[in-house]
Amino acid sequence: MTNHWSLETGGSPTQAERLGERIGIGGVVSRADTAADAAISFEAVSKWFRRKDLLVHALSRVSLDVRQSEFVSLIGPSGCGKSTMLRLAGGLLEPDRGSVAVNSQSPAEARRQKRYGFVPQHPALLPWRTVRRNVSLLSDVNRRQDNPGMSTDDQLAMLDDIGLTPFLDSLPRELSGGLQQRVSIARAFALGAPVLLMDEPFSALDEITRADMRYLLLHLWGQIGSTVLFVTHSIPEAVVLSDRVAVLGSRPGRITQVIDVSLPRPRHAEVEDSDDYHRVLGEVRAALRQGWSS
Ligand SMILES: Nc1ncnc2c1ncn2[C@@H]1O[C@H](COP(=O)(O)OP(=O)(O)OP(=O)(O)O)[C@@H](O)[C@H]1O
Ligand SMILES: [Mg+2]
Repeated sequence: MTNHWSLETGGSPTQAERLGERIGIGGVVSRADTAADAAISFEAVSKWFRRKDLLVHALSRVSLDVRQSEFVSLIGPSGCGKSTMLRLAGGLLEPDRGSVAVNSQSPAEARRQKRYGFVPQHPALLPWRTVRRNVSLLSDVNRRQDNPGMSTDDQLAMLDDIGLTPFLDSLPRELSGGLQQRVSIARAFALGAPVLLMDEPFSALDEITRADMRYLLLHLWGQIGSTVLFVTHSIPEAVVLSDRVAVLGSRPGRITQVIDVSLPRPRHAEVEDSDDYHRVLGEVRAALRQGWSS
């Protein structure tokens, strides 16, 4: 079945702009180049946590600007502060030093205005709501004049596009983990939020499902154009998905390198056969190794 918004190529700017505009996401094709225009901006951010008698230095002077509609991954060893960065961007934590801004607002304000979609490690679907009603949940709750989210028709078209039509009236417990995470991602996009924060959304999936999910996510992102900050432990996942990969080191958590991924878009599985892909993979691997040893 074809629908009015599926893209054979996996996303062209013109169509992305159209859908992005329809659901209220600005700046889909024009990418901001200055910090003031950044979708998410971390400026010299430091964060400490107190654990019993211990003061944990979770982040040290982290600076990063994520541009409008950019896809940026955070990768680094366990405990280096990746989730802390997401929580700071999502207004769930305050920095102890430095500042974080989301579209020039404080994260707390952006959060109040429901400018975020969040995709956690586990799908967190409501067990008593069907697939269709889980996807519409947040947009039903958050429907606002200036960000109405996707219409019901667009939601159904998106669900069809990612193979969920046969499951529209199923309950989460009737779905595999991969299908549940598909619903969780669709739910985040349905919200029409300009910023999506994703914390290892595919880590609980088997390797083959996980590889498929990368391209499904790229397909949706290519059409909708949200800004994505994505946490992963997988180097191939970071490279396939991202415009840039920020590599973190630990003790204290800090960004050691930001690597450009200049692979052409739209990206399909064949990209993983290219020399450029393997070159960038090597760059990220080397940066991670360096971060570990420094
Ligand atoms: N609420 C908290 N209270 C105390 N310590 C915390 C808290 N949140 C995070 N930390 C500590 O801050 C550091 C960074 O944690 P964070 O969860 O951001 O790491 P991470 O990079 O996401 O790790 P992982 O890859 O294991 O998810 C860790 O040492 C962690 O134990
Ligand atoms: Mg984490």
